[in-house]
Amino acid sequence: MVVLQVVVTGGAGQIAYSLIPLIARGLVFGPATRVHLRLLDIPPAAQALEAIVMEIQDSLFPTALEGVLGTTDEVRAFEGAQVAILLGGFPRKPGMERGQLMAKNVGIMKRMGQLLERHASRDCKALVVANPAATNCLVLAANAPSLPRKNFSFLSRLDHERMVGMLLEKANSVLAAGTASHAVRSERLRPADVRGLCIWGNHSDSQVPDASSVEFCLNGNWVPAQTILGDSPWLKLQDANAVAGAGGGDYLSEAVRNRGAVILAARKLSSAMSAANATAAHLGDWLCSPPTGKTVSMGVFSDGNPFGVPEGLVCSFPVQCGDLSGANRGGWNFDSDFRLTEDVSRQLAVSVAELEEEREMAFSILNGGQSTPSEGPPSSAPVVVSTATANGTGNGTLGRAANGAVNISKKPISSL
Ligand code: LMR
Repeated sequence: MVVLQVVVTGGAGQIAYSLIPLIARGLVFGPATRVHLRLLDIPPAAQALEAIVMEIQDSLFPTALEGVLGTTDEVRAFEGAQVAILLGGFPRKPGMERGQLMAKNVGIMKRMGQLLERHASRDCKALVVANPAATNCLVLAANAPSLPRKNFSFLSRLDHERMVGMLLEKANSVLAAGTASHAVRSERLRPADVRGLCIWGNHSDSQVPDASSVEFCLNGNWVPAQTILGDSPWLKLQDANAVAGAGGGDYLSEAVRNRGAVILAARKLSSAMSAANATAAHLGDWLCSPPTGKTVSMGVFSDGNPFGVPEGLVCSFPVQCGDLSGANRGGWNFDSDFRLTEDVSRQLAVSVAELEEEREMAFSILNGGQSTPSEGPPSSAPVVVSTATANGTGNGTLGRAANGAVNISKKPISSL
């Protein structure tokens, strides 16, 4: 029997708490895959880890778990890991500057990358959820240079699912009210009845929620979103600069970009349940589902992309997963049929500029003030880090000046 070795960092944190039952019920890696779960956290979270292991035992999960290890020993957690889910990051603190948050988190990711390089399976697949997710992923990969770059990804699926949910909410309320632009009758639409959307760029407020080609499956036929929603301004892509602080729902793109901050303000904690579900969807499509031709948003290396994004960046793109043959599972390709509109192109360029600036800042921090070229690992100068925290993700939102220039280092975290 094959047992999949899965390490989860931030194993005592909020997102892990929602993710563990999904894994244990076979809803992430499939009902036929048995999982050995290693939950890693920092020493102050050791007791919480012990309690979680007890709760897993008490939950009588049916079959998917082969075993559980709750540990603060990084090497034991990463030894032979075939999947690494990076949830652990330094949490945002009031008044903290963006540069300080970045400094904490890239240090942690450097350490995690070194652990992957030294101890994980040579074909380990890594998903970064901890913020700043894209740049964390880049730093992780740079420190695990013997693993294929296609094995590294970050989570933009949460933004994608938020967009699907909002589209469904709007379309179903129009259908229920009988005010669709064309006379249509339909059952309530479900998630599988939406396609043609993508989140491009960074997991930040510069992300580009692209609804320009959205279609709904209405009574068995795919139709443009406008068939139900009319020529609604709500669907039009708002300029990211125009939304700072708005948080409202006048535009779909604005609502998607602000969703994390709105939930954080209301819950006083980052999204955890929806982040866990998106993590499950990302991993399930990437590693376990048969190829379906479904297009999803996924943060991956830009190498070879057909959309003009410079090589060597990690960026969210429309991706199709497939290639499930044996040990080779985990293949994906860019969906080159996706067309960039002028608006999307322009805004993607801004998000890419932000990713480039974040990269420069991250490697500059790691190298003690000197930025590195876009390719290759950072210098081997030691960075002192404690390791992942129990607090799940940090803060994913970046600031931008009115002229579109990125200003990431001085943005106070409390203003998100
Ligand atoms: C989210 O999108 O909800 C999170 O990335 C927000 C955060 O900073 O934790």
